[in-house]
Amino acid sequence: MATNRKKFIEKAGFTWKCLHGFTFFVLLILFPGMQSAPGNPKGTLLVDHSVYNCLANDMIYFMHPERIGADTGKDTSINAILTIYIRKTKKISDHLFGIFFEDLNYAADGGLYAELIQNRSFEYSPADRKGWNPLTAWDYTTQGFGYGSISVETNLPVHPNNPHYLVVNVEDEGLEGIGLTNSGFDGIVIGAGEKYDFSIFVRQISDKPIPFEIKLRSKNGDVCGEAKFTTNSGDWKKYTVTVTATQSNDSCSFVILAKAKGKFALDVISLFPQKTFKNRPNGLRADLAQSIADLKPKFMRFPGGCLVHGDGLGNMYRWKNTIGPIEQRKEQRNIWNYHQSVGLGYFEYFQFCEDIGAKPLPVVPAAVSCQNSGGTWRIGSTGQKALPLSEMQEYIQEILDLIEYANGPVTSTWGAKRADAGHPQPFNLEYIGIGNEDKQTPEFRERFKLIYEAVKAKHPEIIIIGTVGPDPAGEDYEKGWKFANENKVKMVDEHYYKEPDWFFENLNRYDTYDRNASGVYVGEYAAHDVRRQNTLRSALAEAAYMTSLERNGDVVSMASYAPLLAREGHTQWNPDLIYFNNTEVKPSINYFVQQLFGQNAGDEYISTILILTDSSKTVAKHLPVSVVKDSKSGDLIIKLVNFLPSSVKAQIKMKGVETINSNAIKTVLTGMPGDITLIPQTSACMVDKEFSCELPAYSFTVIRLKTNKTLK
Ligand code: AHR
Repeated sequence: MATNRKKFIEKAGFTWKCLHGFTFFVLLILFPGMQSAPGNPKGTLLVDHSVYNCLANDMIYFMHPERIGADTGKDTSINAILTIYIRKTKKISDHLFGIFFEDLNYAADGGLYAELIQNRSFEYSPADRKGWNPLTAWDYTTQGFGYGSISVETNLPVHPNNPHYLVVNVEDEGLEGIGLTNSGFDGIVIGAGEKYDFSIFVRQISDKPIPFEIKLRSKNGDVCGEAKFTTNSGDWKKYTVTVTATQSNDSCSFVILAKAKGKFALDVISLFPQKTFKNRPNGLRADLAQSIADLKPKFMRFPGGCLVHGDGLGNMYRWKNTIGPIEQRKEQRNIWNYHQSVGLGYFEYFQFCEDIGAKPLPVVPAAVSCQNSGGTWRIGSTGQKALPLSEMQEYIQEILDLIEYANGPVTSTWGAKRADAGHPQPFNLEYIGIGNEDKQTPEFRERFKLIYEAVKAKHPEIIIIGTVGPDPAGEDYEKGWKFANENKVKMVDEHYYKEPDWFFENLNRYDTYDRNASGVYVGEYAAHDVRRQNTLRSALAEAAYMTSLERNGDVVSMASYAPLLAREGHTQWNPDLIYFNNTEVKPSINYFVQQLFGQNAGDEYISTILILTDSSKTVAKHLPVSVVKDSKSGDLIIKLVNFLPSSVKAQIKMKGVETINSNAIKTVLTGMPGDITLIPQTSACMVDKEFSCELPAYSFTVIRLKTNKTLK
């Protein structure tokens, strides 16, 4: 890639020289006043986001670079003229901004997955986390003078994938019965009048039917909802009952009590709100899912992240373990030091993608485990393990089966399983990622290539995404790109978590990427500010960078901020996009930036020229702009970042447009760089073919305009 890029830069340099004189001449005619712009004693800096970029498709062009001199001292008044060449456009990805979902920070269990019972299948273990065991989150409940015994057993489970269950022997049920109490995830939240679906698997061991009572109990002992059922089988049998909450409470526990003497086995004790996102059974927490949907993501990557390749080979995320009835799924420890019930599994991921209009982007392991397995990042990331080559055929088939599960006809083996789960129509899978920022070892490459060739041969219609390490530069990045280009991998996944200034310094990163090489998926990125806090500084750095992704939307096909979700009190990684607890969803400032880009996406990039009355390079890099058009609505969207300590008076001129609808919508996110909570403000704004707009200090402004129909 380096050679291609070098050739490209040389070619671009030649074109630049040819265009330089001509462009400057044109600009002088267009902007005769630019030499004497107010507040600019030392000269004028032109930042061309476009003319050159539009012609050569890839560069920010500094006119008169020799004029880039010292800062203008104390003079802080900056004027900008942004000229938008509406008819000079290039096609960009129409699915540029999406989301990255990983079960990290309790994003799935105790998060998006709406299950209210923690450790419902008694599968927690000390391998998940020191001190955890099958009874974590459960209490043996013997109020009312009852007594008996309990034991965790494995010899006759509901399903071999789900080995642990609880046996209870009630010797005397006392006054209230004996059983179990579950504390949920930091308590269980219920709403008065809301209905909750309870289900359980019970196997009677003693002869007689066992009457059970279930209760939602508040901290002070109030019963906030209850129901009853009685067993009638000596085999494992599922019992279901609905509980209606009689009052609202945000810290209930769940209690199940056997009301008669007897012996029985219990497993998969589940309680779901009926009101899940789109009312799906085994569904998602409605408020959290809605906050994700509101980002208008064009795709969703899942299930990770490091979770995909796992902490050792046995911990790789195997999609087949995550589908089918929940009691048959294979739970496992989470690389982030907790547990995955996989109740939110591949079917639910695909369904959620469809529900929010996002293209599914599953990432499967490249048959190697995470290089940091066992915490080996401390000794140089030597933990990568590879599946034996003798198992590769079977493993490759697993990936081909995934494609069949997503897209195959209902008459196919795996398409039939999708239909059984309630979705006969295909999920329209277009992309698959192979590997997650894996170390570029010979073992990795050999396995990647085997998978890649097999998937390409059987499914040429699927775009395969390769991986180029965890950093935006360095050995894995270089080797990964070389390998991708040699193998003509259509797209590669770049990752970077960097300080805000890195983003401002790298606004030109993709300008010189070879348009004929692999495309780019920026699969994970985030600006990490001091103490890894979500700040306006980091959000504006991301906004600035995203304008450059739009400008390079012909080579960058997709980008997703990471990570997405974090449960307060259970967070392993900061910063994240959306924080939450049991009752609140707390979008970060960075969320609003993602949302503004998601809700104001375009599929054509429009050329612009920005003229500034300040010749400092610092000023120029802190005023990035992008303009896109949404060809469906014909709307034009102007995005302007001002990361300067003073406001900027911007004059916006539209060239190549006959008429403009004067009613536009303007949204501004602004505050101080260190602010950690802010909400953007939206207002109506009057525009014309030429209009002025003040960009507040430290702000991100989005203006959405309706253009006349002739532009469509
Ligand atoms: O997003 C958090 C982690 O960062 C991901 O799991 C991993 O891919 C990256 O290193």
